[in-house]
Amino acid sequence: MKGSNFLHFFVALLLLPFFSPSTLAADTLAVNQSIADNQSQTLVSAGGSFELGFFTPTSPSSTNLRYLGIWYNFSKQSVVWVANRDSPLTDSSGVLQLAADGTLRLLNSSTAVVWSTNSTKPASPIRNPLAQLLDTGNLVVGESDDYLWQSFDYLSDTILPGLEFGHNRETGRDRYLTSWKSPDDPSPGDCTTRLEPDGYPQIFIRKAQTIVFRSGPWNGLRFSGMPNLRPNPIYTYEFVYNSEQIFYRFDLADKSVISRMVLDNEGILQRFTWTASSRTWNLYLTAQMDNCDRYGLCGPYGSCNINNSPPCGCLIGFEPRSRRDWDSGDWAGGCVRRNDSVCGAGEGFQRIVSVKLPDTNTSSYNSSMDLGECEATCLRDCSCTAYSALNVSDGSGCLLWFGDLVDVRHYTEDGQDFFIRLAASDLVSGGGSKRKTRLWIIAVCLLAVGIAVLGLFLIFRFRRKRLQRQASIIMTQERDHTGDVSREHDLELPLFDFSTIASATDLFSESRKLGEGGFGPVYKGIFKDGQEVAVKRLSKDSTQGLDEFKNEVKTIAKLQHRNLVRLLGCCIEKEEKVLVYEYMPNKGLDAFIFDQKQRKLLDWPMLFQIINGIARGLLYLHQDSRLRIIHRDLKASNVLLDYNMNPKISDFGMARIFGANETQSSTKRVVGTYGYMSPEYAIDGQFSIKSDVFSYGVLVLEIICGKRNRGFYHEDHNHNLLGHAWRLYKEGQPEELMDETVKDSWVLSEVVRCIHVALLCVQQGPEDRPNMSNVVLMLSSDIVLPEPTEPGFFTERKVFEQESSTNEITITLLTAR
Ligand SMILES: *[C@@H]1O[C@H](CO)[C@@H](O)[C@H](O)[C@H]1NC(C)=O
Ligand SMILES: *[C@@H]1O[C@H](CO)[C@@H](O)[C@H](O)[C@H]1NC(C)=O
Ligand SMILES: *[C@@H]1O[C@H](CO)[C@@H](O)[C@H](O)[C@H]1NC(C)=O
Ligand SMILES: *[C@@H]1O[C@H](CO)[C@@H](O)[C@H](O)[C@H]1NC(C)=O
Ligand SMILES: *[C@@H]1O[C@H](CO)[C@@H](O)[C@H](O)[C@H]1NC(C)=O
Ligand SMILES: *[C@@H]1O[C@H](CO)[C@@H](O)[C@H](O)[C@H]1NC(C)=O
Ligand SMILES: *[C@@H]1O[C@H](CO)[C@@H](O)[C@H](O)[C@H]1NC(C)=O
Ligand SMILES: *[C@@H]1O[C@H](CO)[C@@H](O)[C@H](O)[C@H]1NC(C)=O
Ligand SMILES: *[C@@H]1O[C@H](CO)[C@@H](O)[C@H](O)[C@H]1NC(C)=O
Repeated sequence: MKGSNFLHFFVALLLLPFFSPSTLAADTLAVNQSIADNQSQTLVSAGGSFELGFFTPTSPSSTNLRYLGIWYNFSKQSVVWVANRDSPLTDSSGVLQLAADGTLRLLNSSTAVVWSTNSTKPASPIRNPLAQLLDTGNLVVGESDDYLWQSFDYLSDTILPGLEFGHNRETGRDRYLTSWKSPDDPSPGDCTTRLEPDGYPQIFIRKAQTIVFRSGPWNGLRFSGMPNLRPNPIYTYEFVYNSEQIFYRFDLADKSVISRMVLDNEGILQRFTWTASSRTWNLYLTAQMDNCDRYGLCGPYGSCNINNSPPCGCLIGFEPRSRRDWDSGDWAGGCVRRNDSVCGAGEGFQRIVSVKLPDTNTSSYNSSMDLGECEATCLRDCSCTAYSALNVSDGSGCLLWFGDLVDVRHYTEDGQDFFIRLAASDLVSGGGSKRKTRLWIIAVCLLAVGIAVLGLFLIFRFRRKRLQRQASIIMTQERDHTGDVSREHDLELPLFDFSTIASATDLFSESRKLGEGGFGPVYKGIFKDGQEVAVKRLSKDSTQGLDEFKNEVKTIAKLQHRNLVRLLGCCIEKEEKVLVYEYMPNKGLDAFIFDQKQRKLLDWPMLFQIINGIARGLLYLHQDSRLRIIHRDLKASNVLLDYNMNPKISDFGMARIFGANETQSSTKRVVGTYGYMSPEYAIDGQFSIKSDVFSYGVLVLEIICGKRNRGFYHEDHNHNLLGHAWRLYKEGQPEELMDETVKDSWVLSEVVRCIHVALLCVQQGPEDRPNMSNVVLMLSSDIVLPEPTEPGFFTERKVFEQESSTNEITITLLTAR
């Protein structure tokens, strides 16, 4: 995809001078003027950002179908709007004209009108209408503020910055997205994204009329069900809801960023940013994050929590409608009240915390009420099932639900609270009196603090004790082994027979050994059907409890990301505990980047892909998986490469597997690997997501330089790799860090940007380092980067030299957010 775009660009560059003798440099089209496909004429917006003309969607083209469209000036394949989606031209004879009545017409060679605009207003007040392509990507006819027609009213699959996405109640226009049929076919596909005003407005994504995703109502800051789309230094968000119009709009605070939102043909709404240096669109985020974003997955009065397994549960005071269906994983029936006495029987309201608010399509609202009036109003009306505030910033306004509560999900953070009507007997605080509620909250807080203190204590001890026993680990891969695999109800993960794994690994033979993981050997396994897997096995004398092990496995099994090694299953049999992972044929990144011969196999685009992929994987661990997982041992050998050289982080979440019991016999040393550890972690034992960011920065510099940070030697100075990179940066020649083997393929601006970002990551103070979402953004866009301050540990190499002969210990820690 990237390659073909690239190629296409160059082909286009080569061909352009020969085939476009009469390209209109203008941004306007007057009456009786035309744009002809066979003369390669186009309109270019005044600022040069967008171009309108004819295109063929596939590249290289396999059809002759021609469409009239608008694309970004830098790539004809970055189409944002298509006129004749339903009626492609079959040859290059198309002509776009502006008629005297202000309509745009697309004619084919037999001068039949293939497509035309449909002005709702008469053109008479305007004598000489003009069509103009604006620098926002909007094609308009007529005068500003009162356009006869504009392409922004007839969206294709793309929302551009500044566009008002939604309804105008006065004109009746509805701006919504319709996906392409396929990436090569702009004709209208199955999927739509629309701001729907029923009840309280929400954005819905539908696939052939079935709702697949709901944004939730706007809560004053963001949509309740899209916590990722909150204001940040780059984007601003706006939601306008009044008697004339309802719309959602995003804009760019940083105008150097090029960004758009696209509904793809699978119904996934995605935001991309363009990186000019590599000429690629980078995925910034998707509206749908995980399974819990499937509309109504848990049925009425159900609640989805991605950290649970299975994810569906019932709201407080409710129980499954059918226990049998529920237990078999069919949650569509949802839940019913335990006690129906909720009308004039002393009922009350139960607070449900940190959720995506239920579907508001049958809600009503009053923005001038406060929460107390809201409760009273809801209580008076027996059909009112729940209420909440409208505005999260000041808790003002009132939203009332009538009817079933559908599509609730739990968020670990950034959720909203609402209050659900329950019979007195079902109120958790017993009677629902505010005082009791408060006491209850205090009790919970005390308990939480207690647990936190205990946790800190354990972590502290864990850090200080020596690891006595080495557990061995096995890796393998396999999914559906009929006969061999059973499914344990609460684990949601295939279970393997130990005998199957033993025979797949040739009884753990030396020849199958892939390497020594932090906790023992890793073997390659081949199942009877030929599937290759990697196997980790915990030693028999591991003292960890079964429940603890299961708990950890469950957590890891839920982590699914392109840039994380996937856990496929496990085996728990008598003393044996085995983990089965996907097999990575290309081994560790260290085998490539630090080896003179192997390194030649990687060109810059691959290295850049690896740098970006690791960042996305780490971002997922830190943030998107909704658990805060700190890897604590990110290093080259813990990044594995798949067949496409796509990087996958491995060895995450292992700490708990080697859990509490083993901590009593663990090392005095801080776990992790010297050379990658941040100062505050290595010295004070403090770790946070920022210590992972530090390790990431080190890794990026290693990838670029081809040398290890630990053991780095330079004849001119005593610094390690970080210090070396910092020196070069200060001298204004950071690119000197890049090793020679890649110089043919490098993109200088990208290399310099990566080094700059890496130096930001390895800054001495954890608070100065960016978090991973900023790193991903900084790598994938052209935003201006701050100046890095001095890196941590750039001269202190010697401090750890003596200790480094001891085995590297690989432990990672998992903490729920
Ligand atoms: C456009 O062409 C028509 C027919 O040739 C002619 O009558 C009309 O005056 C032209 N309008 C302009 C603005 O040139
Ligand atoms: C595209 O337009 C931008 C202005 O929005 C301009 O800076 C850039 O140079 C243009 N690129 C090309 C390839 O014309
Ligand atoms: C381009 O197409 C128009 C209309 O189909 C036709 O009249 C004209 O002759 C064509 N010109 C070329 C150079 O093929
Ligand atoms: C032009 O379009 C008309 C109407 O869609 C169609 O009947 C005719 O065959 C087309 N002519 C050519 C040459 O494609
Ligand atoms: C033009 O607009 C009218 C009224 O808005 C609508 O009924 C008609 O279907 C539209 N025609 C086309 C071709 O879009
Ligand atoms: C929500 O409350 C904040 C703080 O009072 C206010 O600034 C904001 O305008 C409110 N938002 C809406 C949509 O009313
Ligand atoms: C609201 O959603 C429910 C559940 O999907 C549906 O049955 C109902 O028709 C919707 N009502 C409106 C007014 O859209
Ligand atoms: C909203 O609430 C206020 C205060 O309770 C009340 O005066 C007003 O009539 C309500 N508005 C509507 C539309 O119900
Ligand atoms: C239901 O609630 C009512 C009123 O609170 C209470 O009297 C009754 O005992 C409850 N029924 C059950 C089955 O809990």
